[in-house]
Amino acid sequence: MSCILAIESSCDDTSAAVLENDLLLANFIAGQKVHEMYGGVVPELASRAHLQNIVPVVDAVLKTSGMKPGNLDAIAFTRGPGLMGSLLVGVSFAKALSLSLHIPLVEVNHLEAHVLSHFIRTPEYHHAPKFPFLCLLVSGGHTQILKVESPSRFEVLGGTIDDAAGECIDKAAKIMGLSYPGGPVVDRLAKEGDPDRFKIARPRMDKLNYSFSGLKTSFLYLVRDELKKDPDFIEKNKNDLCASVQKAVIGSLMDKLVQAARQTGIKQVAIAGGVSANSLLRGEMEKAQALYGWESFIPPFSFTTDNAAMVGIAGSFKFADKKFCDLSAVPYARA
Ligand code: KG4
Ligand code: ZN
Repeated sequence: MSCILAIESSCDDTSAAVLENDLLLANFIAGQKVHEMYGGVVPELASRAHLQNIVPVVDAVLKTSGMKPGNLDAIAFTRGPGLMGSLLVGVSFAKALSLSLHIPLVEVNHLEAHVLSHFIRTPEYHHAPKFPFLCLLVSGGHTQILKVESPSRFEVLGGTIDDAAGECIDKAAKIMGLSYPGGPVVDRLAKEGDPDRFKIARPRMDKLNYSFSGLKTSFLYLVRDELKKDPDFIEKNKNDLCASVQKAVIGSLMDKLVQAARQTGIKQVAIAGGVSANSLLRGEMEKAQALYGWESFIPPFSFTTDNAAMVGIAGSFKFADKKFCDLSAVPYARA
């Protein structure tokens, strides 16, 4: 039995969670509104907001979970990848708390945490894949297809050579003047749009790799050319534009995932990361069960974008293996 406090501060969400083994007792996320007016995350403002948020968030999560600091067996924290200043706040807080409570520290890789989020148990929900499984990890910063052999063995089968899928959708949203982050807005507007109205060039990549920078540029040129003819083009066609760009990105993601499943013969297939909240992607994953005989694993919405619950589950696997780290652990910005 282990009781773990987890801390996530890699980007612009300050989050803390408490887990008893794989059971999630509480998970709190404090978002950061300060970035909205800039249309993207401002690193320096993010670290300052983490500093303000971290104590209240940890306090709230402990109270909700019913645990006292003395009940904790370990502190798990995101060591990277992410924004250096943001990571530093979580890492330093975790170190200080472990030192004062005399309990071990467990470092967690943010990307592995997204993948392992499928193992979180809640009183209402538990649907974990069997090893080995495939995972399409799609977030604002990463796009990869992984073969997951065990909680600590990941093989990268393919990934993006340029932009991440979430970044591409966010940039398309920015071109249309939509608010940041664009992913959820595009998802919502696309529901009322015609996905076949605009043809957006899909990349043709070899092996299991992705590329999204050409798709983004093709979208930019389309909008730019149409705006010359009609200054109200975006306003009049917002829904169709969102549906068309979303279809191109999600279609590209699914094509390679299907190819990876075919090549490996693995039928346990999961999605994880912020873009796994996308309704078209979730729908395609459901269809794939009937089409290809997969068992699809689609995370609950609360575990798609950044959260500490996933850091806690990754931490509890490591805790079980006694994989601790010491106070010399420093954050890393890149994977
Ligand atoms: O995993 P995450 O919270 O942070 C990173 O580790 O990057 O992912 C954030 C990304 C953003 O690009 C955001 O636009 C995207 O996830 N996202 C979505 C949706 N919800 C969040 N993209 C498409 N559809 C959504 N519903
Ligand atoms: Zn993330």
